Formats: sequence, C-alpha cells, structure tokens
Amino acid sequence: MTEPACRAAFVGEIVQIYIDLEPRARRFARRQANRRDIEESLPNRYGKKSEFHHVHKTIDMLIDIAGSILKQYNLGSVDHLEPLVGGLINDSFVVSAARGRFVLQRLHPIFSADVHEDIAAMTAVIAREGLIVPRLILTKRGRLCWIDHDRHVWRLMSYIAGRSLSTIPDENVAFAAGRLVGRFHRALSMVWYRFRFSRPNAHQLDWHRSNLEQALTEGQASSWIGRVSGLWEQMKPELPRLPSTGHLRRRICHGDLKLSNILFNERSEAIALVDLDTMGWMPIAHELGDAWRSWCNRAGEDTTAIEFDLGIFRAALTGYVGEMRCQLAKLEILSLATSMNSIAFELAIRFLADTLVDRYFAWDPSRFASRAEHNWVRANSQFRLYQEITRSQREIEKIVDGVSRDLLFR
Ligand SMILES: Nc1ncnc2c1ncn2[C@@H]1O[C@H](COP(=O)(O)OP(=O)(O)O)[C@@H](O)[C@H]1O
Ligand SMILES: [Mg+2]
Repeated sequence: MTEPACRAAFVGEIVQIYIDLEPRARRFARRQANRRDIEESLPNRYGKKSEFHHVHKTIDMLIDIAGSILKQYNLGSVDHLEPLVGGLINDSFVVSAARGRFVLQRLHPIFSADVHEDIAAMTAVIAREGLIVPRLILTKRGRLCWIDHDRHVWRLMSYIAGRSLSTIPDENVAFAAGRLVGRFHRALSMVWYRFRFSRPNAHQLDWHRSNLEQALTEGQASSWIGRVSGLWEQMKPELPRLPSTGHLRRRICHGDLKLSNILFNERSEAIALVDLDTMGWMPIAHELGDAWRSWCNRAGEDTTAIEFDLGIFRAALTGYVGEMRCQLAKLEILSLATSMNSIAFELAIRFLADTLVDRYFAWDPSRFASRAEHNWVRANSQFRLYQEITRSQREIEKIVDGVSRDLLFR
C-alpha cells in the first residue's frame, strides 16, 4: 500500500487537514482537532491503524505547524501547507502565504541550531556571486530558527521553483549538475570561514572502521553477525588500496551532493543546490566522489544490481572542470579518479555497522522487513559498486586525463 499524503489548507483561522486516501475519505481537522478525531475517521479497511504511522506523524506536525510554528513568522495569512516529499533526513513542508512561498523544515536532531549561522553566512556569499540558494527567513524576533517546546529546531527558507530528480536521465543533465557544483565551489573559493557546526569524522575511514569493529563486538547476539562479519572479512584486504586524502587542499564544499539536493527547471537545467546543513571544509575528492558514485549508479542504493555509467561520470566531470578550470590543482584533479570507489567503500562500512547497531541511517519500511535488512542490502550494494568502479579504474583514469588535458592544459 502506498502511503497516503497529507496536506492542510487554511480557511481564516480554521485549519483543514486533508488525507489523500480516496475522495470519500478525504477529511478534515478543525483548529482544535486532536489526533484521535482524525485517526477515528480513517477507514478501517485500510488496515491496521499502526500502518498509518506516517500519516499520524504528519498530522501531528501539521497541527503543530499551524498552531504554533508559523505564528513565529511574519507571513501574512497562510493558505496552504503541504509536506515536501523527496527529502531524506529533515521533515519538510511547503507553505503558501500572503508574503509568498516558503519551505519550512524541522531539523533532524543530528544537526544543531548553530548550523543556521553557517547557512546564513554561506548563502549570503553564494547569492552575491549570482547563484540561486534558499535564504533563511527570520522569525518575528529576528532569529534564524525557532526552537519549540520539545527542543525541535525549525527553520523557514525561501522557496525555489524547481524539481529534484531521482536518477540522472542523460549526460546533458549530468553535465549541467557538474557545472552547477563547479560554480558553487568557485563562488566560495576565495572565502575563509570558521564553521560553527561540523560533523566530526565525516569521511574519516579509520573512524568508520573502528565504529564497525565496535558494532561487531556489541552485536554478537544479533542474527546478522555471521553475514556482517563475512562481508567485512571479504572487504578488509582492500583497505591498503584506498588512497589517502590528507595531502589534498580543503575547500568549502556542500557536503551532501546527492541528486535530491539539486533542483532542476523544466528544461532539466540544474538551477540550485539545497540542503546546506552539511557544508564544511573538505577535499573535493570527498565531495565529488560521494556525488558521482551515486549519480553514476543508475540502479540506486537499495539494490545489489549495479549499473555504473561512465558516460555520466565523464559528463559531470567535464561540467565541473569547465567551471573550475585553473582553480584546480593537478593533485586535486588526479584525486578524482579514485574518489568514487573510496566513498563507496566507506559507505559499505557505515551500512554494515548500522546493520548491527542502528545509529544513523533512515530506512524504508515499505520495501524492507527491518532496518537491519535495508542496511544489509545497502552495504552489499556499496561494496559491489566499489568492486565495479575498481574494475573500471583504468578507464576512469583515462577520462580524468582526457578531460583535464582538453580543458586545462590546452
Ligand atoms: N528552498 C527550497 N525550495 C524548493 N524545494 C526545496 C527547498 N529546499 C528543499 N527543497 C526540496 O525538499 C527536499 C528535502 O529538503 P532537504 O533540505 O534536502 O532535506 P533532507 O535533509 O531531508 O534531504 C529537497 O530534496 C528538495 O526537493
Ligand atoms: Mg536532501
């Protein structure tokens, strides 16, 4: 069963929450609506009420947003509120109000409110360079975000008209996305900034490795222990082949360039990068290795069938290097040839650790029986991707060489 969607409309002071089940079941909640009223009106034949967990959570949030969160902002009358699908970590909503359209987000607790200082500073620079970015909207009290009574952090941002894609349809789109990332890096290349918020140990292989080893100790009683240790034994001999990145220049990067964080217009031109919570200093090998290993694998992360597409890699690299040009040091360019398999390997380690001890990754209960099962599939998928990319290493090097020769050393 697909999960029904919820949205809310405002009629004067009244909030009506609609649940997209079917026309007859479309309803309802008034301003003081409580969750039970709504639950009871859900038709029983849609199964156990527990299956509506997602709907219940969304209803609670819509009521909360209408009742208190939006009151923190000066938006004029609010007409419409709707969950934004496609995000992976935060809870996102589109708000239509007299003062325009906005995106409202409740942050995942891994991020602290301090991250907004960074976002405000970085988006000011990026916008000055002519790029479109979501800008934070201040609360009535002039704050960058709002912390509610449950310590949840909320923020409101300008809405960018665009759509995100689930896979890269062709090389033109890969080129456009690569070029936008190049413009983004270039816009920040002359800036020095000390980030208030950072994710310690992101992309530190040794740290992820010791985390996995700890999970293997803690998870002795898990029914997954045999499978996880088996795959780890298979992976370990690869460790010495992974390149070090300690010598590479750090740049201010986006930090999470999965495709859902890029907005495209109707002509499939990449127009904006969103989801700026992970910005920080890192080598471009980490930033682009992570982006490209996911853009190039058309099969996605939830299957062990790998469809690694080198044409997408060439196009994205060409778009990126064409924008960055002489900004790039030779060592940085060379590092791109081994960047994708390093990140795929690192992710395999992280998914393996989460198969035993649930720490971080969200999972999809509509497709997998348990959190562990989803993470197990993802660990296998990333290790196979690592193997596939490693097999194509020669060709990847040739592409990096060809593109950099054409664009840089002409
Ligand atoms: N300012 C914005 N304007 C339009 N759409 C946005 C904006 N910010 C986010 N989105 C959309 O909402 C989705 C989820 O937001 P995102 O910030 O990426 O959250 P998450 O951390 O959950 O992935 C994005 O993939 C994008 O499609
Ligand atoms: Mg996102």
